Amino acid sequence: MFIKMPDYDIYIENQGLKDLQGHIQSVYHGHVIYVITDEHVEKLYAGKLKEALPNFQLFFVVVKPGEHSKSFETYQQVIHELIEKKIKRDHLIIALGGGVVGDLAGFVSASLYRGIAFIQIPTTLLAMVDSSIGGKVGIDLPEGKNLVGAFYNPKFVYVDPTFLDTLEPRDYRNGLAEMIKAGLIGDKKLYHDLLDHEKVSEDEIIMAIQVKRSVVLLDPYDHKERMYLNFGHTYGHAIEKKFNYETYLHGEAVSYGMLLALELGVKLGETHQALYNEVKELLIKRNLVKEPLLKAEDFRDFIMNDKKNLKDGLHFILVSKPGEANIHILKVGEL
Ligand SMILES: NC(=O)c1ccc[n+]([C@@H]2O[C@H](COP(=O)([O-])OP(=O)(O)OC[C@H]3O[C@@H](n4cnc5c(N)ncnc54)[C@H](O)[C@@H]3O)[C@@H](O)[C@H]2O)c1
Repeated sequence: MFIKMPDYDIYIENQGLKDLQGHIQSVYHGHVIYVITDEHVEKLYAGKLKEALPNFQLFFVVVKPGEHSKSFETYQQVIHELIEKKIKRDHLIIALGGGVVGDLAGFVSASLYRGIAFIQIPTTLLAMVDSSIGGKVGIDLPEGKNLVGAFYNPKFVYVDPTFLDTLEPRDYRNGLAEMIKAGLIGDKKLYHDLLDHEKVSEDEIIMAIQVKRSVVLLDPYDHKERMYLNFGHTYGHAIEKKFNYETYLHGEAVSYGMLLALELGVKLGETHQALYNEVKELLIKRNLVKEPLLKAEDFRDFIMNDKKNLKDGLHFILVSKPGEANIHILKVGEL
């Protein structure tokens, strides 16, 4: 099964990487591939990848797992290692890993020699439904996350849900939070399905990818509609920042953020209290938030002091019903 983006395909297959070599051969005629991955993923999957790609010579560049690898230092190390291993402009890079590897390897691919072809093989739930799609790649700075980057599309994205079998439960739930968000902003069936069970199906992964796809197609370069993906993220980013990106995983911070956004929707008469209650029960059950919940007033200053938020009024995403999001420009005092 595949989903078409304007410039590339997203394959969704669970056959143990069986067709991967064929897909690569349809976009790449060389024999050398550079695989950027992290230590966890290398240990689990380097062997499988080699087995699946017997016609290619693979060179691995392995970074430490975690957000710290989305740094200038690691970017530079990876570039040096690739050059040392004699990468050429017409070679191919594979990003094999979660969102950290995808963003870093994508940015390396976008910038080294002004662009080397790359493919995304996302191995976390978050990367499958979110970060590998839409072309945003980049790294963090000490001043903030994702401050240096580019829009750079892969040749294709290869989603194999069986990678999820080895994911730590907390990392799995991190992606689940983004799927719940996708349901709330763009697909009520997905949202209702996710109320029912924790382990997501391939169909649900496809539904979440379709939500991301439709928003990206409306606004490839993030000027307006892509903002819908920020539901829960205004507070979510403030929560992550206030706790130095240590206490909460992104999906956990976004889960608290979704509840705060729904609470604001209730206050503004946009959201039914019943929806807030239902989402709260779901996020508690899935271990994404705990009571007592975080309070809006503790993050207000963070949000108001963030210049990016105030350019022309704070654009805030509200959800009125599952699957229906809208942009609300907040007046001072409404937050
Ligand atoms: N580019 C975008 O549009 C976009 C969108 C959303 C998030 N992001 C970025 O994504 C990043 C977060 O991604 P993430 O949540 O995937 O985190 P991650 O890449 O750090 O992966 C989480 C952990 O899972 C491990 N792992 C990966 N695959 C595994 C597997 N199959 N089995 C066992 N362990 C595995 C990793 O080694 C890591 O320890 C953030 O940097 C965020 O900014 C980017």
